Amino acid sequence: MNVRFGPADKLTGELTPPSDKSISHRAALLGAMAPEPVRIENYLRAADTDSTLRAASALGALVERRERDVLVRGTGLREARDPGGAIDVGNAGTLLRLLPGWLAGQEGLEVTLDGDSSIRGRPVDRVAEPLRQMGADVQAREGRFPPVVVRGGRLRAISYELPVASAQVKSCVLLAALLADGATTVGEPARSRDHTERLLLSAGVKIRRFGHHVTVTNADELTLERVRVPGDPSSAAFLVAAGLIVPGSRLLIRDMGVNWTRCGFFRILARMGGIVVGGFEEESGELRGEEPVSDLDVAAGPLEGTVVEGEEVPLAIDELPLVALLGCFAEGETVVRGAQELRVKESDRIAAVVEGLSALGAEIEATDDGFHVRGGGGLRGGVLDARGDHRLAMLGAVAGLASREGVEVLGMDAAAVSYPGFVADLEALCR
Ligand code: S3P
Repeated sequence: MNVRFGPADKLTGELTPPSDKSISHRAALLGAMAPEPVRIENYLRAADTDSTLRAASALGALVERRERDVLVRGTGLREARDPGGAIDVGNAGTLLRLLPGWLAGQEGLEVTLDGDSSIRGRPVDRVAEPLRQMGADVQAREGRFPPVVVRGGRLRAISYELPVASAQVKSCVLLAALLADGATTVGEPARSRDHTERLLLSAGVKIRRFGHHVTVTNADELTLERVRVPGDPSSAAFLVAAGLIVPGSRLLIRDMGVNWTRCGFFRILARMGGIVVGGFEEESGELRGEEPVSDLDVAAGPLEGTVVEGEEVPLAIDELPLVALLGCFAEGETVVRGAQELRVKESDRIAAVVEGLSALGAEIEATDDGFHVRGGGGLRGGVLDARGDHRLAMLGAVAGLASREGVEVLGMDAAAVSYPGFVADLEALCR
């Protein structure tokens, strides 16, 4: 589906972003691992998180949808059932990386995970390596890519240093750690999102953090009654970006998760001079279950270029394409470096963002690990191919609203992976 987004007059009104994708995936998986029913309130209804519910059922969990909630009756930690065929993860990289952690500890069970053409290009050696060290047998195509076959075994507790900061890999090892024979420690070179740690703590697991290291002790069972999923800051980021670069805009974003490990983008915006009032800092949020939640008041205004690098990168990883877009409207240069992980997301997001925005009139250049944007000129408009990547489709839409001539997004339907109502929500704010 191709959709044209013409220049917008302004965006006004209030909106609650869709439920958090990362937390929904994790809640469904922990639900499947728990012996008693887990009620997940405000579960994300989108293609990626539907894949996780299907995977949970295939492995023996009973999944019941109740309007905005989902009830998962799990199998218990060690009793996953043989799915009787490959599990299709669709486009969901988080499912692809997290599920092997649980499967690794299912003695005698062999499960294959596969997905769409984009998934087949996403590396899994990063999870295979620690799981093998723990004692599981994990095979992948060309040693690196899906389909991936996990043969569960008796797991050893290990100490593992992640070569790249990745919440997906960290979470995979933490799930396997539940089934190991002692306490497992994972170290990360920089902090990444900590939703798994928060949920495990709620589920009665013994878990500790020291700086960049997390230690989890094996468990007999998870005790988790309910999980409340907040609004997704990564989805809200597209609305916030639109609110900042379409002149005259004023938006109120409601009930957004403001976990510190997810708000790197909002801190970058504050540095660029973007006006976001209300609490995007964790302390100003109201704690709902495991996660802090807050409202955000956004007003368009002048922006200045900035540099994003180092520890800030994993804290804003999914929003870095938006930093490039904002850079086009900011005074001076905007630089992102140290973000080579962008090359192995749903698309090569360095190439896709640079080629996509260049075609719309941006002065942007790719580097191996990021991009340089010369700002101030805004965007002319044109055509942007989403390349099957949900965040690229939404980037094109926001670019269109702020451009001089509008943008036609090819493959807008990709947005359904994380934000099925995105076009309708934008339209409502433009009215
Ligand atoms: C995610 C972690 C990030 C992010 C992805 C979701 C998660 O990946 O890009 O969209 O839910 O753990 P990495 O932590 O592997 O970089």
